[in-house]
Amino acid sequence: MKTWGGRFEGGPDPTAADFGRSIETDVELAFDDILGSMAHVRALGRAGVLTDAEVEALLAGLEAVRADIESGSLRWDPALEDVHMNVESALEARVGPAARKLHTGRSRNDQVSTDLRLWLRRTIDDLDGALVGLERALVDLARRNVDAVMPAHTHTQPAQPVLLAHHLLAHVEMLERDRSRLADARRRANVSPLGSGAVAGSGFPLDREAVAAELGFAGVTRNSIDASGDRDFVAEALAGFAIAMVHLSRLAEELVWWSHPRLGFVRLADAFSTGSSMLPNKRNPDPAELVRARAARVVGDLAGFLAVLKGLPLGYQRDLQEDKRPLFESARELRRSLEVLAGIIASLTVDEARLQAAAAEGHVTATAVAETLVELGVAFRSAHHVVGRLVRTAEVDGLSLEVLSDDAVTAALRESDDESVRALAGDPTTAARLRAAASIEGALARCNVIGGTAPSRVADELAAASRRLGLA
Ligand code: ARG
Repeated sequence: MKTWGGRFEGGPDPTAADFGRSIETDVELAFDDILGSMAHVRALGRAGVLTDAEVEALLAGLEAVRADIESGSLRWDPALEDVHMNVESALEARVGPAARKLHTGRSRNDQVSTDLRLWLRRTIDDLDGALVGLERALVDLARRNVDAVMPAHTHTQPAQPVLLAHHLLAHVEMLERDRSRLADARRRANVSPLGSGAVAGSGFPLDREAVAAELGFAGVTRNSIDASGDRDFVAEALAGFAIAMVHLSRLAEELVWWSHPRLGFVRLADAFSTGSSMLPNKRNPDPAELVRARAARVVGDLAGFLAVLKGLPLGYQRDLQEDKRPLFESARELRRSLEVLAGIIASLTVDEARLQAAAAEGHVTATAVAETLVELGVAFRSAHHVVGRLVRTAEVDGLSLEVLSDDAVTAALRESDDESVRALAGDPTTAARLRAAASIEGALARCNVIGGTAPSRVADELAAASRRLGLA
């Protein structure tokens, strides 16, 4: 261990060395590591620690190492512990002893934090594009089925009729919050810890702000102790990933449920369905099921990493090396889940007739009927009770509220202990008005508030989402 072995006799125990090695995981940081090192080299030059010639040689060497990694010709040496030491050693092989000056005024502690922030920045940018991709697929599906109605549920029981587009746009809202959450996490991650050194700050007069600007960071960290051991940005990203995965899992759950032949609301394309090794009839929504399970893994990554952090004193502790596996895995699973769900949604077939039939069940327009009674001067509680009686009658007779007889309506009104309800029983138009209010169209139109399912409101939201997502 040329990099730190001076004060030790003999080499490390092979088991311990193997135990501490991280190259298999942190190799993913290679390009970020080189970027950070290039900025550090220039800072050392500006601080007068390196000559111009040394700066040039090291920059050219780092560029060559980068090209070697890109072409796949660099052999990662597990004996070199991690990506930082591998890059440094590759650099030395390229440029000779000048490489031994690279690590001046820097520690792997501020180095790895820099690398990880650079990695996170570009990963969040990539995930943002994938989130937009799924949003586009959802909006597109809504536009292809713009008139479709369905029952909205609470407690998994039919509640009120809504437009399918309204439901799909609910998922778009969730994904928009995911984007904004990740953008927020990115903003706090986007500061440069370089110059914090191991814990007390670099011993050389590095222009930290210039380094930050060069790497595209919005600023610098303000405390070297904090910066060298801070992984809040990892925890925040993991939380953002986990919440997004929970959203995807809820969408996946609906796809599983909606594609059950008994419901038949949607049909997943063959390309996103799987068969059974034993049952020739099967058509399984495996990709959606796997999204649900991957969400569990990402939630575990967040919980596990918070557990790593909670017992640590300030400053860098080697425990922090365990940030990468959960972070990389979570980002990868989120990315793949977004992609597979976008594929499912883009190729999904909606059965509008089945949705419409489901919306006609469960007396989901009862609230609209009660609200119509309110408009006729009845207190809501009394109206609720009357319509409850009407629903009961309809249920017993196997009818929908839309076709209840004048007699049935009048009887329910007469039964009320509210004078204002009983008064309506004498009016011959009441029953007809209530039946009209029980139509799906009537119920939809009533919810005419911002965020409601009235068709004109949904059309506005759909247009706004289309514009935002660049859909013509
Ligand atoms: N591989 C290490 C990590 O990921 C790099 C930092 C090592 N620092 C140290 N003091 N041993 O955290």
